[in-house]
Amino acid sequence: MTATIAVLISGNGSNLQALIDAVADGRLHAWITVVVSNRKAAFGLERARRAGIPVRYHPLKPYRDANRSRAEYDAALADLVNEYAPDWVVLAGWMHILSDTFLRHFPNRVVNLHPALPGQFPGAHAIDDALAARARGEIDHTGVMIHLVPDERVDEGPVLATQTVPIHPGDTHETLADRIHAIEHQLLVDTVQKLIEDGQ
Ligand code: GRF
Repeated sequence: MTATIAVLISGNGSNLQALIDAVADGRLHAWITVVVSNRKAAFGLERARRAGIPVRYHPLKPYRDANRSRAEYDAALADLVNEYAPDWVVLAGWMHILSDTFLRHFPNRVVNLHPALPGQFPGAHAIDDALAARARGEIDHTGVMIHLVPDERVDEGPVLATQTVPIHPGDTHETLADRIHAIEHQLLVDTVQKLIEDGQ
């Protein structure tokens, strides 16, 4: 079974690259039909172009400048994504919170990747938050989770996969982020492939 996937990004796109590579070498039975970014400079757009994947740029600023609502932005995003008829929508470093205006178009079909374990360190600073908790002696590991996105809550929803990641003495943001990303790349591919196989 081959599924269609839309990938939403905002930045580097190393997880997108992991998906692209896994499609290319047959580990992921999918066709990435579109990559959407809210940031024009996102390197992930370049990764998609190199792989021959259609790209779309959907910035929020013009909506803000025109006093248009976030719901209008999300509705337009849903229309845009729907043009590519994805079975799954993968948020791979997408830095906007998605409202129900978007999510209701893809019930149980939106998958998010977050660099922390369930219930820990939601939001954009999860890696630094984990390092700070480590410095206070509260934790000795953090992790990665992949979950479905049922509603507007940030980095919450039915958990599909988790993996712990140790925090080593002397870790910096860069060293911990590198360790986390290496695990994300593998876990994201495996989890999306499992979703496709289960045909949920
Ligand atoms: C990842 O750490 C992901 O967990 C978080 O954003 C980061 C995206 O990294 N949501 P990249 O753009 O895939 O390199």
